[in-house]
Amino acid sequence: MNRSTENQAIPELPRRRQVRTIGLSGNYWYVVEVDGKLKPRQVKRVRFWSQDIALFRDAGGKLHAVEDRCPHRQLALSQGFVEDGNLVCTYHGWKFDGCGRCTDIHHELGKGRSKLPKIRIRTYPVKAQWGLIWLFPGDPALADSVPLPTIPQLEGDKPWPFFPIDVTIRSHFSMIVENVCDFNHEYLHRHKRPFLQPTLREWKQDGDSVRVYYDTRFDGSPVAKLFMEGGARDLNEIEIWYQYPYQGSDIGGKYIHWLFMLPEDECTTRCFFVFLFGPIHIPILNWKMPEFLRKPILWFTNKWYIEPLLGEDKWALELEQDGFERYPDAPQIELNPAIPSFQKLSLEKWKAYQQSSPMDDPKPATDPA
Ligand code: FES
Ligand SMILES: [Fe+2]
Repeated sequence: MNRSTENQAIPELPRRRQVRTIGLSGNYWYVVEVDGKLKPRQVKRVRFWSQDIALFRDAGGKLHAVEDRCPHRQLALSQGFVEDGNLVCTYHGWKFDGCGRCTDIHHELGKGRSKLPKIRIRTYPVKAQWGLIWLFPGDPALADSVPLPTIPQLEGDKPWPFFPIDVTIRSHFSMIVENVCDFNHEYLHRHKRPFLQPTLREWKQDGDSVRVYYDTRFDGSPVAKLFMEGGARDLNEIEIWYQYPYQGSDIGGKYIHWLFMLPEDECTTRCFFVFLFGPIHIPILNWKMPEFLRKPILWFTNKWYIEPLLGEDKWALELEQDGFERYPDAPQIELNPAIPSFQKLSLEKWKAYQQSSPMDDPKPATDPA
């Protein structure tokens, strides 16, 4: 598709109300935490679409994820603690292993009861990859057959280093998809100038992905001027994708970003951004940055430029969510012809997920033997 073939009338989106309230399919892997932020014997609560999950790492470093609800009195297990391979509820001390089995009720065993009742809580497949913790919130039987996204820059002997940026935004995930894929919000960043004079050239849907291409310039930002090869003056296009449920972009194969969204609920989305920089140069000299300086420069760039830049997006997105809640039935005047493609894809995937065999939440099985 291109702009010349598209009807130039301003379309209103009757599906807006639906799009702003649907979830993301649970049958994908979602980043729920940065790996280094969960130490052995630590437990944290994470959320996927209003499901609270206790994510913990046992003493041996193995990851586990169970529903964040003690079946005894419904306390949050994430408020408990980890003891060897078990998560211990803080109230009466019931213990649960990583398979969700209750392994000890110390106030019962040996005190008139010789055997534990069979009690089990729901568990979730979880694993670490690229310094991120991934969780599969949907049908666990599908987890092994669903791949993580393909990121060649993070594979091989010399994966590109990065520091993930973890930002929680009080807005629906669909607004974030549209923010990332719609460069017409150049105005919001008029002082930081990450991209200049963007023009949408093309967009296309290919299966579960929508790809958009902008002609634009990148030589206006201080990061480009200081650290990007040749001040980024030879880079003049970007490919951005919504590869359900992930997003990413590629500037000339040299500067890549991924966004892994965790939809916590209808108006809260935790975002894990991964910015991958290929060539980094020494300012003024334009010599290749020595390898040992790459990581400090990336850390500095995140703190000095990228995180404040994302702060501008967060600010606008939270205002957009606020506007939606105040005027839920107001039509959205949409001028970017690619936006309906993102919305359609999100709606189709959500409907398919809802129609797929519903998950049976394993209720705690009790056997009062
Ligand atoms: S509420 Fe968890 S052990 Fe009693
Ligand atoms: Fe932005």
